Amino acid sequence: MTQVVDERELEASFERTIAHNDRIEPRDWMPDAYRNSLIRQIAQHAHSEIIGMQPEANWITRAPSLRRKAILLAKVQDEAGHGLYLYSACETLGVSRDDLTRRLIEGRQKYSSIFNYPTLSYADVGTIGWLVDGAAICNQVPLCRTSYGPYGRAMIRICKEESFHQRQGYELLTTMMRGTDEQRALVQESVDRFWWPALMMFGPSDEQSANTEQSMAWGIKRHTNDELRQRFVDMTVPQAQALGVTLPDPDLVWNEERGAYDFGTPDWDEFWAVVKGDGPCNAQRVAHRRRAWDEGAWVREAATAFAASQQTSEVR
Ligand SMILES: [Fe+2]
Ligand SMILES: [Fe+2]
Repeated sequence: MTQVVDERELEASFERTIAHNDRIEPRDWMPDAYRNSLIRQIAQHAHSEIIGMQPEANWITRAPSLRRKAILLAKVQDEAGHGLYLYSACETLGVSRDDLTRRLIEGRQKYSSIFNYPTLSYADVGTIGWLVDGAAICNQVPLCRTSYGPYGRAMIRICKEESFHQRQGYELLTTMMRGTDEQRALVQESVDRFWWPALMMFGPSDEQSANTEQSMAWGIKRHTNDELRQRFVDMTVPQAQALGVTLPDPDLVWNEERGAYDFGTPDWDEFWAVVKGDGPCNAQRVAHRRRAWDEGAWVREAATAFAASQQTSEVR
């Protein structure tokens, strides 16, 4: 009986914290559903950072200059760091990084569908920085105020680097647009391929999104998928104009009344097919991650054995 009352008090205190927009910390009581929802979202986010290294790393050895290579290396390394912050944040909820990695390579947890598309030219490095990191920023800036403390604090550091990623992409595309006709054509072709998948990064439309309502009630999410998608379009159209590229959407037009751009509907059949594993690179991305995990087994074993031996010598 006492236990039931205690549980109710804990829940009330949790609800008060959420209502005051204060942070929930790892030591605080939280409902299981809140914990599981956070594990799902943070893990999916961490996996996206790590899997997202692959399409760009594809071009590191073929960068057109030493400067471009240094920039791309730094960017891909940043993404590894983002993955590590996020796995650490997720571990504060009581799951291990080993377990999360297993869930990824066994296909039990997802990552952003955008990384299941191939990178076919160096212009894709610029387009990914501009559109994919740009969309990530729209998604992630509000997460700096998310209700779970370790997630929000990780996002503050990550967002600073994502801004740099977006700018480096835009700068690369600007340089290519000032180059030859062939370079301009490469940029346009790349933008044509990535525009719609970038819009899909915000997830299904609000009516189709199973998790949005509960996530917003808990203060995990601060805006709906459609709100964020609109914000991204409004931010990106003037940048496309400045760049001199055409966004591949005949329905894209300024709506004076709404003070926002109207735009077409992404191909949701394609979105669900890619989410369910039928994108152009799903199998390749997961196989690569699995191989890296298997090949790193001896490092993890050695590190664990070394840590244990250090502990034993300290005890002595
Ligand atoms: Fe990132
Ligand atoms: Fe990034």
